[in-house]
Amino acid sequence: MQQLHSFVDSLLVSSKDDPTKLFSRLLFLFIAPVAALLLIIRWARWKPYPPGPTGLPLIGNMMMMDQLTHRGLARLAKRYGGLFHLKMGFVHMIVVSSPDEARQVLQAQDHIFSNRPATIAISYLTYDRADMAFAHYGPFWRQMRKLCVMRLFSRKRAESWQSVRDETDHIVRAMASRAGSPVNVGEHVFNLTKNVIYRAAFGSSSSEGQEEFIAILQEFSKLFGAFNIADFIPCLWWVDPNGLNSRLVKARAALDRFIDNIIDGHISYKKKKPNGVVKAEEDMVDDLLNFYSGDEMGKVSESDDLQNAIKLTRDNIKAIIMDVMFGGTETVASAIEWAMAELIRSPDDLKRVQKELEDKVGLTRRVDESDLDKLTYFRCCVKETLRLHPPIPLLLHETAQEAVVGGYRIPKQARVMINAFAIGRDPNSWSDPDSFKPCRFLNEGVPDFKGGNFEFIPFGSGRRSCPGMQLGLYALEMCVANLLHSFTWDLPDGMKPSELSMDDIFGLTAPRASRLIAVPTPRLSCPLY
Ligand code: HEM
Repeated sequence: MQQLHSFVDSLLVSSKDDPTKLFSRLLFLFIAPVAALLLIIRWARWKPYPPGPTGLPLIGNMMMMDQLTHRGLARLAKRYGGLFHLKMGFVHMIVVSSPDEARQVLQAQDHIFSNRPATIAISYLTYDRADMAFAHYGPFWRQMRKLCVMRLFSRKRAESWQSVRDETDHIVRAMASRAGSPVNVGEHVFNLTKNVIYRAAFGSSSSEGQEEFIAILQEFSKLFGAFNIADFIPCLWWVDPNGLNSRLVKARAALDRFIDNIIDGHISYKKKKPNGVVKAEEDMVDDLLNFYSGDEMGKVSESDDLQNAIKLTRDNIKAIIMDVMFGGTETVASAIEWAMAELIRSPDDLKRVQKELEDKVGLTRRVDESDLDKLTYFRCCVKETLRLHPPIPLLLHETAQEAVVGGYRIPKQARVMINAFAIGRDPNSWSDPDSFKPCRFLNEGVPDFKGGNFEFIPFGSGRRSCPGMQLGLYALEMCVANLLHSFTWDLPDGMKPSELSMDDIFGLTAPRASRLIAVPTPRLSCPLY
């Protein structure tokens, strides 16, 4: 203490004649301890990043790029745990592979983890996040979500549900006409979901441009997944060996042309009708046009009255339609194809489901909506399929600010990948996790996918969970139940069920690597077509 006093005295004495010196010394006396204290606090609070493989300077773990699939990341999780960290160039990536950490990210701290990451391609193709799926969490996303849940994907939109029933009839007829010979089930199923979603979006009268639209979607899908070094090391934006930038411009221009035509058609139809009354059968474009701002800028407010809260631009409308097409086509198609494949590969379960259908529905008619609630074992098979093959295996989120999970630091703007595939096969949550065992869902207290159980999240959970779940499940259940009820199924060329390949491929979704080919034989006494 004595020493401190003499140190302070000497400081004051030596600067007696110079007030500026005195002031700066006094300032030092106060600032130094405060700065030291702040440093100590920061040090005490400092948390490491989650564990993960060591990377190289600048590029980090970019040499491991080929392992960023649901299966590759599940393998890495076995080594580094349910929460691990990778650094891809300048981008921090956090991978969540266990239910406890998923609960932290999707529930306890979801206000921090509800943004979406977007690559350069995604930002460009979504008109700079003018859609819902890639909009960051905030007022715009909230109102768009309300619009989707209350209008576009609502059960009240009878047209979407009707199109599922019509397309299910269509696929059953198509299979019946090929009875006894090998049928490409995967291709038929993809056509079904594409038709359902196309009709829900654009109405039944506009099927003529379908092929063109599908080609645009396919190019978008390729561009979404294309590797671009500038996503990880932004200063290398000029490196574009594959001509990605010009492909992006072309793809978006093609979509502009296509949807602008449809929007203009809808607007002129509306104008022709007295008092702007629209056709009885409203499609999603009609619904979105009710919120169209015309030539004005779009706007959004926090008002509870949706009609006043949001005004959409053309770009918003185009981007939402893309969300619907991407969200609703491949997801449902891959789930249907996997369900059929798993059941064909598991003859005992197939027999049990068909017996249930025979008992509850009878062999004199097809399955309709009111039957679904009675089909307990069938529903277990659907759940087991979604557990083993979640159609979107990696949920992509981004942090809005720094966070701490499990004692580890998650930086701001980190890309967070929640591995729904690894979580569904977590050996601590599921016994014999890689086997198809639908009866596990008959047990009391088994996790459900409605969002509260983080062991099973095929539709995600929390704020960013799937808004199309009801429609998606309806299409999945109606189609699979009718295919199983209407036909017995065999594999072609005497192939044994156990020989059926169950490999998948990785993209935005994880469909079968090869299309399912099977032979249908009618089993109902009523005519199928
Ligand atoms: C079996 C069918 C389906 C499955 C398994 C599924 C699954 C998912 C998953 C896992 C997410 C992301 C959740 C997250 O990031 O945390 C999602 C989001 C989304 N899904 Fe689905 N989906 C299905 C059907 C549909 C359908 C039929 C539509 C539309 C017609 C749709 C539209 C969307 C949209 C727009 C989002 C983005 C939501 C947002 O960012 O706020 N999905 N879906």
